[in-house]
Amino acid sequence: MFSPQGPSARELAVQALSSVERGYDLLAPKFDHTPFRTPDVVLDATARELAALGPFEAGLDLCCGTGAGLGVLRAVGARRVVGVDRSAGMLAVADEANARSGGGASLVRADARALPFRSAFDLAVSFGAFGHFLAEDRRALFAAAREALRPGGLLAFPVAAPPRVGSPGYWLLWGFDAAMRVRNALWRPPFVMYYRTFPLSVARAELAEAGFAVGTVPLSLPELGERPDGTPRCRLVLARRP
Ligand SMILES: C[S@@+](CC[C@H](N)C(=O)[O-])C[C@H]1O[C@@H](n2cnc3c(N)ncnc32)[C@H](O)[C@@H]1O
Repeated sequence: MFSPQGPSARELAVQALSSVERGYDLLAPKFDHTPFRTPDVVLDATARELAALGPFEAGLDLCCGTGAGLGVLRAVGARRVVGVDRSAGMLAVADEANARSGGGASLVRADARALPFRSAFDLAVSFGAFGHFLAEDRRALFAAAREALRPGGLLAFPVAAPPRVGSPGYWLLWGFDAAMRVRNALWRPPFVMYYRTFPLSVARAELAEAGFAVGTVPLSLPELGERPDGTPRCRLVLARRP
């Protein structure tokens, strides 16, 4: 799963026993060599779908980490690009990449549940981060995202289809979540990261409750092959602030 430049098993164990913020601070220099960074195929497919819904003037990447989603915002033409994350270490790596690519993005250290923005963006994206939020945190997160968007603004993020029950992928995610629950029952500070708590049905219901008009489109990911039943591997959630 990890390239030779990725973290060692010992480093991963230390990170997993830290808080989310500290864990990502430690992981940051090697994060881009882990499978936790959103793959380019997903970022590119998202940019293709969003480009058809633009133009966008100002874009926000929620929980931007090392900056995976900033390129999506640039690709859809946003002239103001902002990334928000709670981990100073992840933001430092994002800042280096931002400078290498010609800069232009602003990076802000903030908790996504309490964003320092009001009606500032017409597009917000987020990749690979919602497993860090329990249901009550997601209420605050979606309320903050709604406030940060202008009326008519769009919150967009991909949600992967769950693996078939009983498949190796199913047991991998099930085992990861079970291990996290045991870890969090026995160890402080908690490291909240669950893969199976935010399926599409929950995303739709919670976003509607937060006042968004919710739709989805399939993400075209031919690189990842077909699911056995022909349904899309991933859908892009499109939640619009009315
Ligand atoms: C798995 S990484 C994903 C990073 C990036 N979006 C990507 O797709 O590669 C999750 C990120 O969420 C950030 N994060 C977790 N909880 C957060 C919170 N409450 N507020 C802001 N950022 C948060 C972490 O610091 C980390 O950078």
